[in-house]
Amino acid sequence: MSKNIKNLICLILSLGLILSLTACSNAGSNSKNQSSAAPSGGTSSQAADADDKTAPEQTDESANETPADNSDGNDSESSRILVVYFSRTGEQYTVGVIDHGNTAIVAEMIADETDADFFEVVPEDDHYPMTYTELTDVAKKEQNDNARPAYAGEVPDLSQYDTVFIGAPVWWGDWPMIMYTFFEENADALAGKSLVPFSTHEGSGLSGFDKKLSSSIPGSTVLRGLAIRGNDCQNKQDSVRESVKNWIAGLEF
Ligand SMILES: Cc1cc2nc3c(=O)[nH]c(=O)nc-3n(C[C@H](O)[C@H](O)[C@H](O)COP(=O)(O)O)c2cc1C
Repeated sequence: MSKNIKNLICLILSLGLILSLTACSNAGSNSKNQSSAAPSGGTSSQAADADDKTAPEQTDESANETPADNSDGNDSESSRILVVYFSRTGEQYTVGVIDHGNTAIVAEMIADETDADFFEVVPEDDHYPMTYTELTDVAKKEQNDNARPAYAGEVPDLSQYDTVFIGAPVWWGDWPMIMYTFFEENADALAGKSLVPFSTHEGSGLSGFDKKLSSSIPGSTVLRGLAIRGNDCQNKQDSVRESVKNWIAGLEF
């Protein structure tokens, strides 16, 4: 009898032991699930990544906002600089027929580098021939006549600019006469500003653009100009851009 009781007690203890071991093992698997929640904390770290992803998006948004904000800033910055230029397409010296004028190419680079606004001087009545020798004849006659060809379009409000880059091809060793029309019509509005001349040419360099600009617009400060070969504008744009960058970097405006 007492042996039976002992056996029964042993059985009960064994069952108790088995139950407690099972409970432990369940507890272990729970903590495992929890720790696998940590990867889902990893998920939350993915969420953090997602947040991180969101962050760039937010950054993107803020990047979007930044330009907008900056764009206000940029606008007001860029609105302080204007590039005025005259340029011709058609047949040009040494480059054949071009559909993007040499001076226009330099003007665009300047605007790129300085975040500037543009004004292209376009003849009101475009009487300029598209063939080179005919164009040189018309230009020579305008120069001999001291003509003031009219330009089209409305000049932007110049009072919002501090610095005005002004460029043109050298025509017969001088500014094209249409540029004198622009200078004279806007002399008062340009007085007091920093003016920066640039030319494209095929050998004449700046051709006195700076001095002529200075005497056409009394009261302005004319900064160091830049002269670029027309042919390079079509065929060596990397080196032209380099020259433009270096030149701008050396200007104080
Ligand atoms: C009417 C005319 C006159 C020119 N006179 C000169 C000149 O005196 N000296 C010079 O180096 N290049 C002269 N050229 C060459 C231009 O200055 C050069 O091709 C310029 O890059 C053209 O620029 P664009 O394409 O912006 O009009 C003349 C070109 C033309 C059409």
